[in-house]
Amino acid sequence: TLPFEKGSVPSRKYQGFWYPEGFLPGAMAIQQRFKARPDDLFLVSFPKSGTTWLKALVFATMTRKQYPLARHPLLSLNPHDCVAYIEERFAIGQASKVEALPSPRILSTHMPYSLLQDSVAGSGCRIIYIARDPKDALVSFWHFTQKSSPKLNKIPFTEAFEAFCEGKFPFGPIWDHLLGWWRESLKRPEKVLFLKYEGLLEEPVANVKRLAEFVGCPFSEEEEEGGMVEEIVRLCSMESMKSLEVNKVRKHGPIYQFANSSFFRKGVKGDWRNHMSPEMARRLDVIIEEKLQGSGLTGWSSQ
Ligand code: A3P
Repeated sequence: TLPFEKGSVPSRKYQGFWYPEGFLPGAMAIQQRFKARPDDLFLVSFPKSGTTWLKALVFATMTRKQYPLARHPLLSLNPHDCVAYIEERFAIGQASKVEALPSPRILSTHMPYSLLQDSVAGSGCRIIYIARDPKDALVSFWHFTQKSSPKLNKIPFTEAFEAFCEGKFPFGPIWDHLLGWWRESLKRPEKVLFLKYEGLLEEPVANVKRLAEFVGCPFSEEEEEGGMVEEIVRLCSMESMKSLEVNKVRKHGPIYQFANSSFFRKGVKGDWRNHMSPEMARRLDVIIEEKLQGSGLTGWSSQ
C-alpha cells in the first residue's frame, strides 16, 4: 500500500506502474481489448499535470463551430464531463458506451505508454500528452488528496515527498510515465504532441493554435483576426472555470468522488516553493534529471 492510501483505496503495481485499484480493471481491459479508431484523439497525462485544462482547451477548440462560445457546454459542464476518462468508464462497465461514441472521439487517460501501446498501434490516432514539473504535480496531488472520497490518507507533505522520490505514487513512477510518452512523441511527432503545462501558462495562444493544427482544425485567418483563440483561452482560463456554478458543486465520480472545485486550485508554476525546502527540491531535481538523462526532456530544474 502506498502511504497516501493506508486504510483506504490502495494502488497495485501492474507492469511497472502503481495503479489505483478502482481504475486498474479498466486499464487492463483497455490494454487487452480496446482498439483506437484512426480519428480518435487521446489526451494523456500523469495526474495533476493540467488534464482538466487540456480537456477544456481541446474540447472548446474542436467544437467551436458547433457551439458559439457564449453558449458553450463548458459553461455548464465540468471538462471531465465533456471528455470521457476511459479507465474509469471501462472499470464501471461502460466500455460499450465508449465504443458507441461518435467520431471523432476525444478520450482521456492516465495510462502509461507501455499499457496503451497495443490499443493505439497502427491505428493512426492522435495523442496529446501534457507534462508538468514533477515538483508541482506532487504538490498539486498532495492538496488533491485532502479533498477526495473515499478518503485518501492525509499524510504530511514530507511523507508524500519520500514516496514520490521512490516512485511509489499513484500512476508512478512519474519519470517512466514521462519517458514513455516523450520517446513516442520523438518517434512520431505527427501523431504524438508533447505539451508542457508551463508552456501553456507562458504562451496559451500560441499553444492553442499549435494544438488546433495538430488535431486538424487550424484557426482560419478570419477566426484569428476575430480573436477566437483568445476567447477560447479566456473561456478555459482558471478564473473563468473556477467561477462557474458547475465547478463549485460536487462531482459524482462513480469510483472516487471529487468536488469539481478540487480540480481548480492555484494553477501556477512553482508552487512547490511553498512546500519544499531548496534541499528537497534539489534532491528531487537530481532524481528526475538522472532518470530523464539523455532523453532530451529537460527544463524543470529548481536552480
Ligand atoms: P494546482 O493544484 O497546482 O493548482 P489535473 O487537471 O491534471 O488534475 O491538474 C490539476 C492542476 O491543474 C491543478 O494545479 C489545477 O489548479 C490546475 N488547473 C486546472 N484548471 C486550470 C486552468 N484552467 N488553467 C491553469 N491551471 C489549471
